[in-house]
Amino acid sequence: MQSLTIRRPDDWHLHLRDGAMLRGVIADTSRHFARAIVMPNLVPPVVTTVDARDYRNRILDALPEGHSFEPLMTLYLTEETNPDDVEEGKRSGLITAVKLYPAGATTNSASGVRNLDKVMPVLERMAKIGLPLCVHGEVTTPEVDIFDREAVFIETVLDPLRRRLPELKVTMEHVTTSDGVDYIRSSAANLAGSITTHHLIINRNAILVGGIRPHYYCLPVAKRESHRLALRAAATSGDPRFFLGTDSAPHVDPAKECACGCAGIYCAPNTMSCLAHVFEQEGALDKLEAFVSLNGPAWYGLPPNETRITLVKRAAPVQFPKKIETGAGSVTVFDPMFPIYWDVE
Ligand code: NCD
Ligand code: ZN
Repeated sequence: MQSLTIRRPDDWHLHLRDGAMLRGVIADTSRHFARAIVMPNLVPPVVTTVDARDYRNRILDALPEGHSFEPLMTLYLTEETNPDDVEEGKRSGLITAVKLYPAGATTNSASGVRNLDKVMPVLERMAKIGLPLCVHGEVTTPEVDIFDREAVFIETVLDPLRRRLPELKVTMEHVTTSDGVDYIRSSAANLAGSITTHHLIINRNAILVGGIRPHYYCLPVAKRESHRLALRAAATSGDPRFFLGTDSAPHVDPAKECACGCAGIYCAPNTMSCLAHVFEQEGALDKLEAFVSLNGPAWYGLPPNETRITLVKRAAPVQFPKKIETGAGSVTVFDPMFPIYWDVE
């Protein structure tokens, strides 16, 4: 039997939602992960440090007995965000990052930023105090093809912003293209990227071949195979600028299985098993710990976790539930479409 013991991982991009959904999904993360950067795209969004403190308390209340888990809170950047409130959030240790959603880019992003000039005072303050900006890197311009939105964002928004404010630390979240990988690799400092589990496994065929499969639809949408291969190379390279952000994003099944389904893949329950499979396929099991447990904390200036988890390779495929039941309704779990033998002990 093969086994691998690594420091307990963290998830640097996670949607936990609220209320019954939060209570239904949190254990799937806290079972394996010690910390997660929690996305603020609730309805209404988490925009002030007071909102973030209240949301953090609701998350801690929802934690199952015996689970120790630290939610790392983010603020949702709007054109009204107050730089003093952001600085106070960082100073008090409550806020780990601020999240930029271009308005309309994805689920619950209507309050996002339309005009970057309006948020420059906040970004300048963040650069000064060393608070990272997490970026959903897609333009929302209707004329830009959805498969090109990340590459166009880098060229027309991200690179100009970083030239204007080189001291700002930017996390390019859920990178889905070789353009994103190349851009991160080419930058000398203050830029890193998170990669999801599912973008290492699926390409756009998963969504569209043999029928339309809403449970593989997320944003940024999966791209063509060459991009998936670039992501796998980056994730398994050991390069400290790349780390895990699952973007596990639960929606109840009726919200996905309908004429206009929501974006989001629920991959929290089997993420570590899927990643062990991917890293083994790439002959890079020795790089898994860097990707899930070391590179992220180093980027965010936090110590790595002291506790460990052990992954074991079973003789027979591990069975994961196809769906979980929450008080809000059922949620379909990401199906990697291959048998998985790796299990967290
Ligand atoms: C996320 C969600 O459902 O909140 N959906 C997704 O497809 N990833 C939003 C996001 O992170 O883009
Ligand atoms: Zn997300």
